[in-house]
Amino acid sequence: MANIEQQVARHYTHGALREAIYSGLKSLGRGVDDFRDADLAGMDEFHMGGREATAALAAKLDLKPAMSLLDIGCGIGGAARYFAQSVGCRTTGIDLTPEFVETARALTAHLGLAERVEFRVGSALELPFADASFDAATLLHVGMNIADKKRLAANVHRVLKRNGQFGIFDVMRAGPGPIVYPQPWAADESTSFVASAAEYKEALGAAGFVVTSEQNQRQMALDFFARMRARMAASGPPPLGLHVLMGKDAAQKVANVVTMLQQGIIAPIEIIARRN
Ligand SMILES: C[S@@+](CC[C@H](N)C(=O)[O-])C[C@H]1O[C@@H](n2cnc3c(N)ncnc32)[C@H](O)[C@@H]1O
Repeated sequence: MANIEQQVARHYTHGALREAIYSGLKSLGRGVDDFRDADLAGMDEFHMGGREATAALAAKLDLKPAMSLLDIGCGIGGAARYFAQSVGCRTTGIDLTPEFVETARALTAHLGLAERVEFRVGSALELPFADASFDAATLLHVGMNIADKKRLAANVHRVLKRNGQFGIFDVMRAGPGPIVYPQPWAADESTSFVASAAEYKEALGAAGFVVTSEQNQRQMALDFFARMRARMAASGPPPLGLHVLMGKDAAQKVANVVTMLQQGIIAPIEIIARRN
């Protein structure tokens, strides 16, 4: 694994993530073998907008039950499970961070979805799949950790079937100005490669994709963080919230990301592309 990738995996490694999740479930009155998808909803989608944003992305992809989908940088698998459950497609998640993949597998098995959703440790820059393996691919809040967007796009192009769709929902640069760290995806700029939508589109075009839509979801993200803050002010952090994944400096990361959004320096942007 490349040095940057090792640093990225270290950034996301909690150290005792499953124990933290089981302890959160206990506070919710649930047991290790007795929880539902909804109990994880506050933390198993590590991107702005959570489930709402995943559903919005899925709605823009022509997903069908018989399809196979690759979720790149799947984290602990919330989005992969959603695609499998809502559409019925067979989903594979791949992620650099072994602890996330182990956690994704354990949660998915508990939820009875292991037949339809599988997970692998691996890099988006060296996808370990045969050419034309998948009908569709998704990437949610991952590209900020990947410098070489052209290599990323070329990898996804290779593993997609002809006419396959690639749905991206990443934090992108929306205007000039310094990004203040820590951010949820990086402690400092050494592992942060936030790029503009134009740079993504250039990489997609060079790989042989045609971009079919683009949407800035800044307001959705601001509303998401406003709701999170209101909940925190009213009742403190929930037993299972994104702070579990973000670690000790979660509050600082959230404050920084909200400031960057408010200043128009970054925005979560959806890009849908189709493989030629
Ligand atoms: C902010 S989390 C998003 C996780 C998930 N997509 C979600 O929305 O819940 C970013 C994830 O991307 C993964 N990641 C970063 N760079 C990667 C790469 N080069 N290849 C595979 N996964 C990567 C990290 O390990 C982490 O799990």
